[in-house]
Amino acid sequence: MFDYSSLANGGLSRIKPYQAGKPIEEVKRELGIDNVIKLASNENPFGMSPKAREAAVACVSEGNFYPDSNGYYLKQKLHEVFGYDQETITLGAGSNELINLLFQAFVNDKTNVVLPEYSFVVYGMEATVNGALVRTIPLKNYQVDLDAVFRAIDENTRIVAFANPSNPIGTAVPSQDMREFVRKVPHNTLVVIDEAYNEFNSGDETYEDSAKWLDECENLVVSRTFSKAYGLAGLRVGYMLANKEITSLLNRLRAPFNVNIIALSAAIAAIDDQEFLRKTVDNNNKERLRYESFCKEMGLFMIPSKANFVAIDFKPYDAQKIAGGATARRGYSPSSFRVQAAGYSACLNRYA
Ligand SMILES: Cc1ncc(COP(=O)(O)O)c(C=O)c1O
Repeated sequence: MFDYSSLANGGLSRIKPYQAGKPIEEVKRELGIDNVIKLASNENPFGMSPKAREAAVACVSEGNFYPDSNGYYLKQKLHEVFGYDQETITLGAGSNELINLLFQAFVNDKTNVVLPEYSFVVYGMEATVNGALVRTIPLKNYQVDLDAVFRAIDENTRIVAFANPSNPIGTAVPSQDMREFVRKVPHNTLVVIDEAYNEFNSGDETYEDSAKWLDECENLVVSRTFSKAYGLAGLRVGYMLANKEITSLLNRLRAPFNVNIIALSAAIAAIDDQEFLRKTVDNNNKERLRYESFCKEMGLFMIPSKANFVAIDFKPYDAQKIAGGATARRGYSPSSFRVQAAGYSACLNRYA
């Protein structure tokens, strides 16, 4: 066959496909078992808000129409509830799409991208596909070393990206430190704060909404999702906040109807159901503490987590055997696994 890879753009042949957590049905088929609890993709084990479900079902019959390409009502809701300027919002089919668009818009083979060690795998993939060099900065005691990240930036650094809280490590950079960092970074380097797990971290007294720094930090880009705490992973909806010019560029690049009507309606209703969100976050925080006690009891090392998952080093045990039939994801080292915090109670309840 003709070598089609030789025709493909940039670094496409240099990346491996994204390894998604296996769907429950696939694990059942593969292992021939019925009792499967998915802990691998940090989804919401409590389902979605009943109000979101109702809104989703109610709009199915409008499926013959294209969605509102601009997502006016969802943007309006984000403005009403969180105060975000609608001209700074780009909607996407999950935040993953928005990260993809941002790298496509700004990264090329004359640039480099700076990432902390153990970053969400998609940033490195997007950088490589677009031809950029990736500079990986070691963590310091499982925390992002902001000084080292800053030192790695040069005039060709187009993006510095952090997940905050991070995935798969689970630690978070405190708001004040992050704000100081963004203020220092030159304007031609975009600082992307991916807040997919933000809701699980925002109860902290020292927490500030980083999107509120957009006016003073014009190179700041904040990415959010409805996939995790809001429980809408399967509907695919997220948003990105950035200055008006970056937002306008992203909106030129995105496909015209990238967020479907069900996702738009469900996301609006999910924002309105803050009670469900609180329940999710409270439950998660409770279950995370149980993991902490479990690890203490077993003499295992658990990285303190601000997210809805925990990374545990199972040394000296065999992590593979402990994970058993669960779809736990490989963690930051061969002996570690990242598992979902609230899944702990799901497992205990199922096997009690
Ligand atoms: C840090 C981080 N960012 C972004 C995403 C993508 O989420 P989605 O595309 O569902 O919004 C994930 C999903 O696992 C994630 O862990």
